[in-house]
Amino acid sequence: MKLPVVVVATCALFLYAHGVQIITSPSGLIRYAVGDVESDVVISAAHDGAMEPPEYGKRYPNGCYDNGNCVFNSTYCTDKLSVEVCSTTLTRDTHTLNITNHLADRIANGTGGVRPHIIICDLARSVVDVNRHIDEATFGNDNAAVVFHEYHYYVQQALGIAASGNRTVFFLDIHGQTGNNKTCLGYLIDNDVPDGLIQDVVPDSQAPNTSLAQLVRVSGQSLDALLRGPESIGGLIESSSRFQVIPSPNNPISLAGFYYHGGINLHKYAVDTVIGIQAEINVEARRTEAVRKEFSYLFGDAVLYWLKNFF
Ligand SMILES: *[C@@H]1O[C@H](CO)[C@@H](O)[C@H](O)[C@H]1NC(C)=O
Ligand SMILES: *[C@@H]1O[C@H](CO)[C@@H](O)[C@H](O)[C@H]1NC(C)=O
Ligand SMILES: *[C@@H]1O[C@H](CO)[C@@H](O)[C@H](O)[C@H]1NC(C)=O
Ligand SMILES: *[C@@H]1O[C@H](CO)[C@@H](O)[C@H](O)[C@H]1NC(C)=O
Ligand SMILES: *[C@@H]1O[C@H](CO)[C@@H](O)[C@H](O)[C@H]1NC(C)=O
Ligand SMILES: *[C@@H]1O[C@H](CO)[C@@H](O)[C@H](O)[C@H]1NC(C)=O
Repeated sequence: MKLPVVVVATCALFLYAHGVQIITSPSGLIRYAVGDVESDVVISAAHDGAMEPPEYGKRYPNGCYDNGNCVFNSTYCTDKLSVEVCSTTLTRDTHTLNITNHLADRIANGTGGVRPHIIICDLARSVVDVNRHIDEATFGNDNAAVVFHEYHYYVQQALGIAASGNRTVFFLDIHGQTGNNKTCLGYLIDNDVPDGLIQDVVPDSQAPNTSLAQLVRVSGQSLDALLRGPESIGGLIESSSRFQVIPSPNNPISLAGFYYHGGINLHKYAVDTVIGIQAEINVEARRTEAVRKEFSYLFGDAVLYWLKNFF
């Protein structure tokens, strides 16, 4: 049975679309598609927003270098050190909201119609980046800060509902990148550093520092098996498709291009009984609607496998 969930936020707009309750934040720039109470999955689409209202200011390609620190404020510093040391990212992760929706559809379909929670940022990344520290996120604009806090408010609401009954929760932060030809899954482990993916086996002793700590506790799987064994998310996607994922049995580390180990959202939310992945989807898997759907369904099936077997 599916029970309705009511989440209260001041001045938020409530709307039902196809039976899903959509809460729009007071600013109008964050949407929370409330999942069913039975769902233990929370999905974030934070970097596919397109809105750029001028009163929310704008972010610059870099902050200001000042005495060993990077300061992010309304001044655009163009000196060499600022540009080199304090760079940030403004680009939109195109089609990642579409992938988020396909992924949610697939997960719901595989769990008897139980809809995951989805949090969407409609403000462009050139204006706010909710996956950064608030200074770098807003460049000091107070209106952008409101949107930043709304996003995190709804993520926390969703995680709270998803955890009800002391459940293990799966937090999926959906992103896109152009720096690597393969999709990168971030678990807060680096690539080619001594305690990174370069190790033959990433030991379980490192699990508390990763976004999979809880799953290592409850699944009976080793950290390394969850990261890049046959039943890892990467392994499951690769075994039934042409898509390439790092890490996985075939791609245990990133040999070419960047690797994305996960950002502030993962550090903040994939703790205690929440596990998380920052999925950095490559360009090819985002290019056409047919490919997006195919990739999202494979990803969704891998998530369903974990929910069924490891949670
Ligand atoms: C921003 O920070 C830089 C470096 O500290 C400083 O030079 C500049 O005056 C600041 N701008 C504002 C508007 O506070
Ligand atoms: C994804 O985007 C396409 C248009 O490119 C649209 O037709 C489709 O309905 C979207 N899918 C979902 C699940 O939102
Ligand atoms: C929904 O799940 C059923 C199996 O339970 C499967 O046959 C069907 O293809 C799925 N549909 C979608 C759209 O994922
Ligand atoms: C919740 O589960 C964890 C183990 O995952 C356990 O340590 C904790 O005591 C449980 N809390 C409650 C309130 O049941
Ligand atoms: C992606 O693949 C193409 C063709 O195989 C190659 O030329 C390019 O260097 C690759 N880019 C990265 C970042 O790995
Ligand atoms: C976990 O991270 C902390 C802080 O970066 C570090 O000091 C510690 O050695 C790490 N623990 C393991 C087991 O890797």
